[in-house]
Amino acid sequence: MHLYSATATARTTTLAYGSRYRAPTVNHFLTFTLFHHHNPRPPQTSTFSHFPRFPNVNFLTGNSPIFRMEKFWSGSGISKNKAMVEQLQRYGVISSQKVSEVMEVVDRALFVPDGNPPYYDSPMAIGYNATISAPHMHATCLQLLEENLQPGMHALDVGSGTGYLTACFALMVGPQGRAVGVEHIPELVTSSIQNIEKSAAAPLFKEGSLSLHVGDGRLGWPEFAPYDAIHVGAAAPEIPQPLIDQLKPGGRMVIPVGNIYQDLKVVDKKLDGSVTIRTETSVRYVPLTSREAQLQGY
Ligand SMILES: C[S@@+](CC[C@H](N)C(=O)[O-])C[C@H]1O[C@@H](n2cnc3c(N)ncnc32)[C@H](O)[C@@H]1O
Repeated sequence: MHLYSATATARTTTLAYGSRYRAPTVNHFLTFTLFHHHNPRPPQTSTFSHFPRFPNVNFLTGNSPIFRMEKFWSGSGISKNKAMVEQLQRYGVISSQKVSEVMEVVDRALFVPDGNPPYYDSPMAIGYNATISAPHMHATCLQLLEENLQPGMHALDVGSGTGYLTACFALMVGPQGRAVGVEHIPELVTSSIQNIEKSAAAPLFKEGSLSLHVGDGRLGWPEFAPYDAIHVGAAAPEIPQPLIDQLKPGGRMVIPVGNIYQDLKVVDKKLDGSVTIRTETSVRYVPLTSREAQLQGY
């Protein structure tokens, strides 16, 4: 279920809930967590019987590198942020030195709510029907956006949640750049600021090149547009036009698109203003939606 494709441009056939693959849960035999990316309830577990819906022969035969990685991960008790990054490197999720460095420097434990294993490669509930995305998903998006996160560039993180990726963006674009998080749950913005204030990105927040805002991310954040990089952390039924408009020529947006079946789309705006869109992989996120819709039943 949670497989990572080492081929950056190839579409994988694997579907994942908030992630492409997942470390096993506490069950003695190998089970996999099937919980909605933003479901605040404890994860439900499921056995292999769910997997025929997500065909991947390598997975079913256990030949996938990530399958082996899951087993290793569950048994190793990884407890250090650096070790988590090294694992992501070892299994080809991270190939960029810069992405490794930034993920090593931003300790994920500062962003994961207490009581959760911070370095598990799994999304985790953060309240308000939201989750912090899995480490491999963060890494994947950082890699896809790396060229557009050079020092001095502008980056927008829509659905910034815990602030983890916004912090990474800020460190990549540096004090001459601008990293902007937009999140529509005010409580999450407050807690994300607290997280960031404890992190390596705190000086950038203090001096103002990193900012977090309460707002409807479907509208982007025009104040600091155009953006070299836009990341959207929730699935849109279609790509919001304001986000395309706020993308700089030469810029790149990474956004999950779809409803039940979703694809991570890579949107490139060429220098002449034309836009190309390709599919990176299949994913599963909760919707990019209104605050009211998200909080229904919460
Ligand atoms: C999967 S979470 C990702 C959080 C973040 N990337 C992280 O890892 O901490 C998606 C986030 O998008 C937010 N969201 C959903 N719809 C939104 C909207 N219209 N405007 C702003 N934020 C939105 C949710 O509240 C949630 O925090």
